[in-house]
Amino acid sequence: MSSLDSDKRCLSGMRPTGRLHIGHLHGCLKNWVELQHKYDCFYFVADWHALTTAYDQTKEIEKSTTDMIVDWLAAGLSPTSCTFFIQSKVPEHAELMVLLSMITPKSWLERVPSYKDQMARLNDRDLDTFGFLGYPVLQAADILIYRAGHVPVGVDQQAHVEISREIARRFNEVYGREEEFDSNVKKALKKLDSNVAAKLQKAQRAFREQGDRDARDRAHALIEEMPDLSIGNKERLHGYLEGTGRVILPEPNALITKEKVVPGIDGQKMSKSSRNTLPLREDPKVVSQKIRTMPTDPARVRKTDPGDPAKCPVYALQQNYLSQEQLAWVNDGCRKASFGCIECKKPLIDAINQEQETLRAAAAPYVKDPDIVRSILMEGSEKARLTAKETMEDVRAAIGISHRSP
Ligand code: TRP
Ligand code: SF4
Repeated sequence: MSSLDSDKRCLSGMRPTGRLHIGHLHGCLKNWVELQHKYDCFYFVADWHALTTAYDQTKEIEKSTTDMIVDWLAAGLSPTSCTFFIQSKVPEHAELMVLLSMITPKSWLERVPSYKDQMARLNDRDLDTFGFLGYPVLQAADILIYRAGHVPVGVDQQAHVEISREIARRFNEVYGREEEFDSNVKKALKKLDSNVAAKLQKAQRAFREQGDRDARDRAHALIEEMPDLSIGNKERLHGYLEGTGRVILPEPNALITKEKVVPGIDGQKMSKSSRNTLPLREDPKVVSQKIRTMPTDPARVRKTDPGDPAKCPVYALQQNYLSQEQLAWVNDGCRKASFGCIECKKPLIDAINQEQETLRAAAAPYVKDPDIVRSILMEGSEKARLTAKETMEDVRAAIGISHRSP
């Protein structure tokens, strides 16, 4: 696969650090489900990444992995549309991480915002490790090894995708520059039909001189359509169009998930570390109890005190779950104090429990027979590994450590 195909591929991962919650469902999984129909999607369990922040808490990793995949399946991700796999089952990620680590300046890693941020925030953890500093290099390897063009993530992961782009660019600069690049491009052009070669040259000039991206993209597509071009020559011609040398590892783009506000049951952002989550497939009684005790607009001390939904964390949740009419009912009743908060919360509790029931039903076959989950993961991991191996062949050859007989 070469650089333009990367436009068809989408990849993302999650760390297996505990039960998924409704924040994951609305903030991430629903988006993944949509993408599975648009792209060739690879979704994986980042179990090595889980170790970077908690190397001593490994008891739950396997259980969390299975639970997580069951939730993915229940949310509507399909193993026939996507490839599900486990990071540690594709050891090529580690090989690429080592190779990328050689060209990644230490200062880039120290500058990643989440590095200092997590160091300061997670002060009960030992983050003074090589592994934690290298977190973004491992993530870059995860992405680049599949030559994924699209990486759906939340804003908190944007800096990691950005550094993956920088690492890819540096790799291509260091290892994509063949001494005979120019003459190799000429040779590759000569192999083409002369009309096609002329088109490519024209597009290259239009992009270089006038920044004509459309011309460049059309030319990239043309290269992809040519059946008898070797992978090496394809990469050279793509690199010629970009003006970069060979593109061995295409730069990925972050597909930033629109921030859905899913507040936790304490009104702060829902996250596991804040212990304010509403897990998926939770007991209905626990759901009602958690919602009933959620804080509301502090102005509504008594049932007769009017309130403002904009100041109420429950309302932010209601926006994810209620119809327009129901929201109008909430707004009206809150401002006029025509009902109390407990009554206002009832439709929300029902809607969440209905969603949970749907998830529970969809999850049931997998909960009953976890072997199905295991085989989905094993098959997916094998498939992912084939792609990863292909990339590694190119990577080793570009560096000059294939060690094949000449
Ligand atoms: N760092 C991501 C998170 O904590 C998980 C992750 C690991 C990832 N590798 C990835 C996400 C590659 C996207 C692409 O959420
Ligand atoms: Fe929030 Fe509803 Fe209470 Fe208003 S009435 S403060 S929207 S829970």
